[in-house]
Amino acid sequence: MKLLVTGGAGFIGSNFARYILANHPDDSVVNLDALTYAGNLENLADVQDNPRYTFIHGDITSHRDISKAFREHPIDVIVNFAAESHVDRSLHMGPRAFIQTNILGTQLLLDAARKHKIQRFLQVSTDEVYGSLGPAGAFTEETPLQPNNPYAATKAGADCMVRAATHSHGLDCVITRCSNNFGPYQFPEKLIPLMISTALEDKPLPVYGDGLHVRDWIYVADHCAGIDAALRKGKSGEVYNLGGNYDVPNIQIVKGILKILSKPESLITFVKDRPGHDRRYAMNSSKAQHELGWKPAHHFEDALKTTVEWYVGHPAWWQRIRSGEYREAYEKLYGWRNEQCR
Ligand code: NAD
Ligand code: TYD
Repeated sequence: MKLLVTGGAGFIGSNFARYILANHPDDSVVNLDALTYAGNLENLADVQDNPRYTFIHGDITSHRDISKAFREHPIDVIVNFAAESHVDRSLHMGPRAFIQTNILGTQLLLDAARKHKIQRFLQVSTDEVYGSLGPAGAFTEETPLQPNNPYAATKAGADCMVRAATHSHGLDCVITRCSNNFGPYQFPEKLIPLMISTALEDKPLPVYGDGLHVRDWIYVADHCAGIDAALRKGKSGEVYNLGGNYDVPNIQIVKGILKILSKPESLITFVKDRPGHDRRYAMNSSKAQHELGWKPAHHFEDALKTTVEWYVGHPAWWQRIRSGEYREAYEKLYGWRNEQCR
Protein backbone atom coordinates (compact mmCIF):
# COMPACT_ATOMS: atom_id res chain seq x y z
CA MET A 1 0.00 0.00 0.00
CA LYS A 2 1.26 3.51 -0.81
CA LEU A 3 0.35 6.04 1.87
CA LEU A 4 0.29 9.78 1.34
CA VAL A 5 1.15 11.05 4.82
CA THR A 6 0.60 14.79 5.07
CA GLY A 7 2.39 16.70 7.84
CA GLY A 8 4.87 13.85 8.11
CA ALA A 9 7.70 16.16 9.18
CA GLY A 10 5.86 17.11 12.37
CA PHE A 11 5.73 15.31 15.69
CA ILE A 12 3.08 12.60 15.24
CA GLY A 13 3.39 12.37 11.45
CA SER A 14 7.12 11.59 11.64
CA ASN A 15 6.55 8.97 14.33
CA PHE A 16 3.78 7.49 12.15
CA ALA A 17 5.91 7.38 8.98
CA ARG A 18 8.65 5.57 10.90
CA TYR A 19 6.05 3.21 12.41
CA ILE A 20 4.67 2.26 8.96
CA LEU A 21 8.11 1.69 7.44
CA ALA A 22 9.10 -0.50 10.41
CA ASN A 23 5.87 -2.51 10.72
CA HIS A 24 4.66 -2.90 7.13
CA PRO A 25 7.52 -3.98 4.84
CA ASP A 26 5.27 -3.88 1.75
CA ASP A 27 4.08 -0.30 2.35
CA SER A 28 5.67 2.92 1.21
CA VAL A 29 5.24 6.46 2.48
CA VAL A 30 5.06 9.73 0.55
CA ASN A 31 5.43 12.59 3.02
CA LEU A 32 3.87 15.87 1.84
CA ASP A 33 4.82 18.64 4.24
CA ALA A 34 5.03 22.43 3.94
CA LEU A 35 7.78 22.60 6.59
CA THR A 36 6.16 25.30 8.71
CA TYR A 37 7.82 26.27 12.00
CA ALA A 38 6.67 22.86 13.35
CA GLY A 39 7.97 20.75 10.46
CA ASN A 40 11.52 19.45 10.67
CA LEU A 41 13.21 17.03 8.28
CA GLU A 42 15.63 16.04 11.06
CA ASN A 43 12.67 14.16 12.56
CA LEU A 44 12.98 11.59 9.76
CA ALA A 45 16.74 11.75 9.11
CA ASP A 46 17.03 8.04 9.94
CA VAL A 47 14.66 6.98 7.13
CA GLN A 48 15.50 9.57 4.48
CA ASP A 49 17.47 7.02 2.40
CA ASN A 50 14.86 4.28 2.75
CA PRO A 51 13.70 3.41 -0.81
CA ARG A 52 10.12 3.13 0.52
CA TYR A 53 10.14 6.75 1.74
CA THR A 54 9.79 9.94 -0.34
CA PHE A 55 9.56 13.54 0.80
CA ILE A 56 7.69 16.21 -1.16
CA HIS A 57 7.96 19.80 0.01
CA GLY A 58 4.38 20.92 -0.53
CA ASP A 59 1.36 22.59 0.99
CA ILE A 60 -2.06 20.95 1.43
CA THR A 61 -3.68 24.32 0.70
CA SER A 62 -2.11 24.21 -2.78
CA HIS A 63 -4.00 22.33 -5.45
CA ARG A 64 -0.78 22.27 -7.50
CA ASP A 65 1.29 20.66 -4.71
CA ILE A 66 -1.33 17.97 -4.07
CA SER A 67 -1.62 17.26 -7.81
CA LYS A 68 2.16 16.88 -8.02
CA ALA A 69 2.08 14.19 -5.31
CA PHE A 70 -0.63 12.28 -7.18
CA ARG A 71 1.06 12.73 -10.56
CA GLU A 72 4.34 11.31 -9.26
CA HIS A 73 2.95 8.52 -7.05
CA PRO A 74 0.13 5.97 -7.30
CA ILE A 75 -1.43 6.85 -3.92
CA ASP A 76 -3.72 4.26 -2.29
CA VAL A 77 -4.65 6.06 0.94
CA ILE A 78 -4.24 9.49 2.55
CA VAL A 79 -3.48 9.91 6.25
CA ASN A 80 -3.92 13.60 7.02
CA PHE A 81 -1.79 14.90 9.89
CA ALA A 82 -0.99 18.29 8.35
CA ALA A 83 -2.34 21.01 10.62
CA GLU A 84 -1.68 24.09 12.64
CA SER A 85 -1.76 22.28 15.95
CA HIS A 86 -1.17 24.64 18.88
CA VAL A 87 -4.08 26.12 20.86
CA ASP A 88 -2.04 29.07 22.21
CA ARG A 89 -1.04 30.12 18.69
CA SER A 90 -4.66 29.95 17.53
CA LEU A 91 -5.59 32.26 20.43
CA HIS A 92 -2.75 34.73 20.28
CA MET A 93 -1.67 34.82 16.64
CA GLY A 94 -5.13 34.54 15.12
CA PRO A 95 -7.02 31.70 13.43
CA ARG A 96 -6.30 32.48 9.77
CA ALA A 97 -3.57 29.87 9.20
CA PHE A 98 -5.67 27.37 11.19
CA ILE A 99 -8.70 27.92 8.96
CA GLN A 100 -6.58 27.67 5.83
CA THR A 101 -4.65 24.52 6.63
CA ASN A 102 -7.02 22.66 8.93
CA ILE A 103 -10.26 23.25 7.00
CA LEU A 104 -9.41 24.37 3.46
CA GLY A 105 -6.36 22.08 3.22
CA THR A 106 -8.38 19.09 4.39
CA GLN A 107 -11.06 19.87 1.81
CA LEU A 108 -8.51 20.05 -1.02
CA LEU A 109 -7.17 16.64 0.04
CA LEU A 110 -10.73 15.24 0.10
CA ASP A 111 -11.28 16.60 -3.43
CA ALA A 112 -8.07 14.92 -4.62
CA ALA A 113 -9.07 11.68 -2.88
CA ARG A 114 -12.36 11.66 -4.83
CA LYS A 115 -10.76 12.62 -8.10
CA HIS A 116 -8.14 9.90 -7.88
CA LYS A 117 -10.56 7.33 -6.39
CA ILE A 118 -8.25 6.38 -3.54
CA GLN A 119 -9.15 3.50 -1.23
CA ARG A 120 -9.41 5.40 2.05
CA PHE A 121 -8.99 8.84 3.62
CA LEU A 122 -8.01 8.89 7.28
CA GLN A 123 -8.43 12.18 9.14
CA VAL A 124 -6.28 12.57 12.26
CA SER A 125 -8.44 14.54 14.66
CA THR A 126 -8.49 15.38 18.33
CA ASP A 127 -10.54 15.04 21.51
CA GLU A 128 -10.58 18.86 21.67
CA VAL A 129 -13.47 18.93 19.18
CA TYR A 130 -15.75 17.72 22.00
CA GLY A 131 -15.09 20.76 24.23
CA SER A 132 -14.73 20.49 27.99
CA LEU A 133 -16.09 17.91 30.47
CA GLY A 134 -17.57 18.47 33.92
CA PRO A 135 -16.17 16.61 36.91
CA ALA A 136 -17.39 13.16 35.76
CA GLY A 137 -17.63 11.10 32.55
CA ALA A 138 -15.59 10.77 29.37
CA PHE A 139 -15.96 11.67 25.68
CA THR A 140 -17.52 9.02 23.47
CA GLU A 141 -17.88 9.19 19.69
CA GLU A 142 -21.50 10.30 20.31
CA THR A 143 -20.51 13.34 22.39
CA PRO A 144 -21.64 16.50 20.53
CA LEU A 145 -18.95 18.63 18.92
CA GLN A 146 -18.52 21.75 21.09
CA PRO A 147 -15.08 23.15 20.31
CA ASN A 148 -14.05 26.01 22.59
CA ASN A 149 -10.93 27.48 20.99
CA PRO A 150 -10.05 28.38 17.39
CA TYR A 151 -7.75 25.37 16.93
CA ALA A 152 -10.45 22.96 18.11
CA ALA A 153 -13.08 24.76 16.02
CA THR A 154 -11.04 24.30 12.83
CA LYS A 155 -10.43 20.62 13.62
CA ALA A 156 -14.18 20.17 14.16
CA GLY A 157 -14.81 21.97 10.86
CA ALA A 158 -12.45 19.56 9.10
CA ASP A 159 -14.19 16.57 10.72
CA CYS A 160 -17.53 17.86 9.39
CA MET A 161 -16.13 18.17 5.85
CA VAL A 162 -14.78 14.62 6.07
CA ARG A 163 -18.17 13.37 7.24
CA ALA A 164 -19.87 15.25 4.39
CA ALA A 165 -17.50 13.69 1.82
CA THR A 166 -18.61 10.23 2.92
CA HIS A 167 -22.32 11.04 3.13
CA SER A 168 -22.59 13.15 -0.02
CA HIS A 169 -20.05 11.52 -2.29
CA GLY A 170 -19.51 8.03 -0.86
CA LEU A 171 -15.80 8.66 -0.21
CA ASP A 172 -14.35 6.02 2.13
CA CYS A 173 -13.29 8.05 5.18
CA VAL A 174 -12.40 7.26 8.79
CA ILE A 175 -11.79 9.81 11.55
CA THR A 176 -9.65 9.14 14.61
CA ARG A 177 -9.88 11.50 17.60
CA CYS A 178 -6.97 11.23 19.98
CA SER A 179 -6.06 12.74 23.33
CA ASN A 180 -2.85 14.65 24.23
CA ASN A 181 0.22 12.95 22.79
CA PHE A 182 3.76 12.98 24.12
CA GLY A 183 7.03 11.38 23.04
CA PRO A 184 10.19 12.01 21.01
CA TYR A 185 10.26 14.83 18.42
CA GLN A 186 7.41 16.85 19.95
CA PHE A 187 7.90 20.56 19.35
CA PRO A 188 8.74 22.24 22.68
CA GLU A 189 5.70 24.51 22.68
CA LYS A 190 3.45 21.73 24.03
CA LEU A 191 3.25 21.03 27.77
CA ILE A 192 5.52 18.00 28.22
CA PRO A 193 8.49 18.92 25.97
CA LEU A 194 8.21 22.56 27.08
CA MET A 195 8.50 21.56 30.73
CA ILE A 196 11.34 19.10 30.10
CA SER A 197 13.44 21.55 28.07
CA THR A 198 12.71 24.48 30.41
CA ALA A 199 13.63 22.43 33.49
CA LEU A 200 16.86 21.30 31.79
CA GLU A 201 17.70 25.00 31.46
CA ASP A 202 16.78 25.56 35.16
CA LYS A 203 14.21 28.18 34.15
CA PRO A 204 10.73 28.76 35.64
CA LEU A 205 8.06 26.30 34.44
CA PRO A 206 4.91 28.23 33.42
CA VAL A 207 1.85 26.32 34.70
CA TYR A 208 -1.42 27.96 33.62
CA GLY A 209 -3.94 29.02 36.27
CA ASP A 210 -4.21 26.61 39.20
CA GLY A 211 -2.59 23.71 37.31
CA LEU A 212 -5.65 21.54 37.91
CA HIS A 213 -6.79 21.30 34.29
CA VAL A 214 -7.02 17.65 33.32
CA ARG A 215 -5.81 16.10 30.06
CA ASP A 216 -5.71 12.46 28.98
CA TRP A 217 -2.14 11.54 27.94
CA ILE A 218 -1.13 8.95 25.35
CA TYR A 219 2.34 7.90 24.21
CA VAL A 220 2.79 8.75 20.53
CA ALA A 221 3.60 5.13 19.54
CA ASP A 222 0.20 4.05 20.87
CA HIS A 223 -1.50 6.77 18.84
CA CYS A 224 0.36 5.60 15.70
CA ALA A 225 -0.76 2.01 16.32
CA GLY A 226 -4.36 3.22 16.75
CA ILE A 227 -4.32 5.17 13.47
CA ASP A 228 -2.81 2.16 11.71
CA ALA A 229 -5.56 -0.09 13.11
CA ALA A 230 -8.29 2.36 12.06
CA LEU A 231 -6.76 2.65 8.59
CA ARG A 232 -6.78 -1.12 8.03
CA LYS A 233 -9.75 -2.31 10.12
CA GLY A 234 -12.00 0.72 10.65
CA LYS A 235 -15.38 1.03 8.98
CA SER A 236 -15.98 3.78 6.44
CA GLY A 237 -17.85 6.76 7.89
CA GLU A 238 -16.92 5.88 11.48
CA VAL A 239 -15.16 7.87 14.17
CA TYR A 240 -12.80 6.18 16.64
CA ASN A 241 -11.68 7.74 19.92
CA LEU A 242 -8.10 6.91 20.92
CA GLY A 243 -7.13 7.71 24.50
CA GLY A 244 -4.35 6.76 26.86
CA ASN A 245 -6.52 5.99 29.93
CA TYR A 246 -4.38 8.39 31.92
CA ASP A 247 -6.23 11.58 32.77
CA VAL A 248 -4.52 13.69 35.43
CA PRO A 249 -4.09 17.39 36.35
CA ASN A 250 -1.29 19.25 34.60
CA ILE A 251 0.52 19.93 37.86
CA GLN A 252 0.96 16.17 38.39
CA ILE A 253 2.61 15.85 34.97
CA VAL A 254 4.96 18.76 35.69
CA LYS A 255 5.95 17.38 39.11
CA GLY A 256 6.56 13.96 37.52
CA ILE A 257 8.97 15.51 35.01
CA LEU A 258 10.86 17.38 37.75
CA LYS A 259 11.16 14.17 39.75
CA ILE A 260 12.65 12.23 36.81
CA LEU A 261 15.12 15.09 36.22
CA SER A 262 15.89 15.51 39.96
CA LYS A 263 15.03 19.21 39.69
CA PRO A 264 13.33 21.21 42.47
CA GLU A 265 9.57 21.93 42.49
CA SER A 266 10.50 25.55 43.22
CA LEU A 267 10.95 25.89 39.43
CA ILE A 268 7.14 25.69 39.07
CA THR A 269 5.59 29.12 38.43
CA PHE A 270 1.84 29.59 38.23
CA VAL A 271 1.10 32.07 35.44
CA LYS A 272 -1.99 33.77 34.03
CA ASP A 273 -4.44 31.22 32.67
CA ARG A 274 -5.06 30.53 28.97
CA PRO A 275 -8.27 32.30 27.90
CA GLY A 276 -11.25 29.93 27.76
CA HIS A 277 -9.04 27.09 29.04
CA ASP A 278 -10.92 23.75 28.82
CA ARG A 279 -11.07 22.29 32.31
CA ARG A 280 -11.11 18.56 31.71
CA TYR A 281 -10.70 16.03 28.89
CA ALA A 282 -11.11 12.26 29.31
CA MET A 283 -11.58 9.60 26.66
CA ASN A 284 -13.70 6.50 26.35
CA SER A 285 -11.92 4.41 23.69
CA SER A 286 -13.97 1.23 24.09
CA LYS A 287 -15.20 1.40 20.49
CA ALA A 288 -11.61 1.27 19.17
CA GLN A 289 -10.84 -1.51 21.62
CA HIS A 290 -13.81 -3.64 20.49
CA GLU A 291 -13.89 -2.88 16.77
CA LEU A 292 -10.19 -2.39 16.01
CA GLY A 293 -8.65 -4.63 18.68
CA TRP A 294 -6.53 -1.65 19.75
CA LYS A 295 -5.52 -0.45 23.18
CA PRO A 296 -2.56 1.57 24.43
CA ALA A 297 0.42 -0.69 25.12
CA HIS A 298 2.64 1.73 27.07
CA HIS A 299 2.41 2.65 30.75
CA PHE A 300 2.45 6.39 31.31
CA GLU A 301 5.32 6.45 33.84
CA ASP A 302 7.63 4.34 31.65
CA ALA A 303 6.78 6.33 28.53
CA LEU A 304 7.33 9.65 30.31
CA LYS A 305 10.75 8.44 31.48
CA THR A 306 11.63 7.34 27.92
CA THR A 307 10.50 10.74 26.64
CA VAL A 308 12.50 12.70 29.22
CA GLU A 309 15.55 10.58 28.40
CA TRP A 310 15.07 11.31 24.69
CA TYR A 311 15.13 15.08 25.33
CA VAL A 312 18.13 14.72 27.65
CA GLY A 313 19.91 12.75 24.91
CA HIS A 314 19.01 15.12 22.06
CA PRO A 315 19.86 18.63 23.35
CA ALA A 316 20.83 19.92 19.88
CA TRP A 317 17.35 19.08 18.53
CA TRP A 318 15.45 21.25 21.01
CA GLN A 319 18.12 23.83 21.80
CA ARG A 320 18.17 24.94 18.17
CA ILE A 321 14.40 25.43 18.31
CA ARG A 322 14.53 27.28 21.61
CA SER A 323 17.16 29.75 20.42
CA GLY A 324 17.35 32.39 17.71
CA GLU A 325 14.33 33.18 15.58
CA TYR A 326 11.99 30.85 17.40
CA ARG A 327 12.88 32.49 20.71
CA GLU A 328 11.70 35.87 19.37
CA ALA A 329 8.41 34.44 18.10
CA TYR A 330 7.96 32.72 21.47
CA GLU A 331 8.44 35.93 23.45
CA LYS A 332 5.90 37.65 21.19
CA LEU A 333 3.41 34.81 21.59
CA TYR A 334 3.75 34.50 25.34
CA GLY A 335 4.01 38.15 26.46
CA TRP A 336 0.47 37.78 27.88
CA ARG A 337 1.35 35.13 30.41
CA ASN A 338 4.36 36.79 32.02
CA GLU A 339 2.05 37.87 34.79
CA GLN A 340 2.36 35.41 37.68
CA CYS A 341 -0.80 34.57 39.58
CA ARG A 342 0.78 33.40 42.79
P1 NAD B 1 2.86 19.39 14.56
O1 NAD B 1 2.50 20.82 14.69
O2 NAD B 1 4.03 18.84 15.29
O3 NAD B 1 3.08 19.02 13.01
C1 NAD B 1 2.27 19.53 11.99
C2 NAD B 1 2.98 19.25 10.66
O4 NAD B 1 2.11 19.70 9.60
C3 NAD B 1 4.30 20.01 10.50
O5 NAD B 1 5.28 19.15 9.95
C4 NAD B 1 3.95 21.12 9.51
O6 NAD B 1 5.06 21.54 8.72
C5 NAD B 1 2.87 20.45 8.69
N1 NAD B 1 1.98 21.43 8.04
C6 NAD B 1 1.35 22.49 8.62
N2 NAD B 1 0.62 23.15 7.70
C7 NAD B 1 0.78 22.48 6.52
C8 NAD B 1 0.26 22.66 5.23
N3 NAD B 1 -0.55 23.69 4.92
N4 NAD B 1 0.62 21.78 4.26
C9 NAD B 1 1.45 20.74 4.53
N5 NAD B 1 1.98 20.53 5.75
C10 NAD B 1 1.65 21.39 6.73
O7 NAD B 1 1.53 18.60 14.93
P2 NAD B 1 1.32 17.20 15.66
O8 NAD B 1 1.29 17.41 17.10
O9 NAD B 1 2.26 16.21 15.06
O10 NAD B 1 -0.18 16.87 15.20
C11 NAD B 1 -0.42 16.18 13.98
C12 NAD B 1 -1.92 16.00 13.81
O11 NAD B 1 -2.46 15.29 14.92
C13 NAD B 1 -2.70 17.32 13.74
O12 NAD B 1 -3.70 17.18 12.77
C14 NAD B 1 -3.30 17.46 15.13
O13 NAD B 1 -4.50 18.18 15.09
C15 NAD B 1 -3.54 16.01 15.48
N6 NAD B 1 -3.53 15.71 16.92
C16 NAD B 1 -2.48 16.11 17.70
C17 NAD B 1 -2.47 15.79 19.06
C18 NAD B 1 -1.31 16.17 19.95
O14 NAD B 1 -1.38 15.94 21.16
N7 NAD B 1 -0.25 16.72 19.42
C19 NAD B 1 -3.55 15.07 19.61
C20 NAD B 1 -4.60 14.68 18.78
C21 NAD B 1 -4.57 14.99 17.42
P1 TYD C 1 -0.88 21.82 25.34
O1 TYD C 1 0.33 20.93 25.35
O2 TYD C 1 -0.76 23.17 24.72
O3 TYD C 1 -2.04 20.96 24.65
P2 TYD C 1 -3.63 21.25 24.54
O4 TYD C 1 -3.89 22.67 24.81
O5 TYD C 1 -3.88 20.86 23.12
O6 TYD C 1 -4.28 20.32 25.53
O7 TYD C 1 -1.40 22.01 26.82
C1 TYD C 1 -1.70 20.90 27.65
C2 TYD C 1 -2.18 21.44 28.97
O8 TYD C 1 -1.10 22.10 29.61
C3 TYD C 1 -3.28 22.48 28.84
O9 TYD C 1 -4.21 22.31 29.91
C4 TYD C 1 -2.56 23.80 28.95
C5 TYD C 1 -1.40 23.47 29.89
N1 TYD C 1 -0.17 24.26 29.67
C6 TYD C 1 0.44 24.91 30.75
O10 TYD C 1 -0.04 24.86 31.90
N2 TYD C 1 1.57 25.62 30.51
C7 TYD C 1 2.14 25.71 29.27
O11 TYD C 1 3.18 26.40 29.11
C8 TYD C 1 1.51 25.02 28.19
C9 TYD C 1 2.08 25.09 26.80
C10 TYD C 1 0.36 24.29 28.44
